[in-house]
Amino acid sequence: MHIAVLNGPNLDLLGERETHIYGTTTLAALEESVRRRGEELGVSVEWIQSNHEGELVDAVHGFRSRVDGAVVNPAAYTHTSWALRDAFLAAPIPFVEVHLSNVFDREPERRRSLFADLACGFVAGFGPRGYLLALDALIDILRDD
Ligand code: DQA
Repeated sequence: MHIAVLNGPNLDLLGERETHIYGTTTLAALEESVRRRGEELGVSVEWIQSNHEGELVDAVHGFRSRVDGAVVNPAAYTHTSWALRDAFLAAPIPFVEVHLSNVFDREPERRRSLFADLACGFVAGFGPRGYLLALDALIDILRDD
């Protein structure tokens, strides 16, 4: 089984960016822990981060018939990107949406996700652990199918 983890803009600065909200774990450390969990669960993990909307759209197109499912943190594009939403509609794969912060406890604009209704599930507010929860749940769902 092959799982993609897609990370949107500014997540490359995790660990130094707004640490009171996102914590001190770097994206590299997060990737390492997700890859380790993937190995434990017997799945291969592909890790993607981009600050560019079009690159994320291209990445989702590339998932078609190659990736079994995805863990997706669209970051700020969660709230704005119809292009990325359309990419998931065009290349439908099961995915879990994940956010480090509790987006419902922040500015009202962050409460709207353009992806939540397309996702199998939604994890928010658990920091880096949320990625592991999302991966576990996604693999359970895919293995049940
Ligand atoms: C985020 C929440 C978004 O609102 C924000 O723009 C991010 C990170 C999160 O993981 O909590 O960049 O997706």
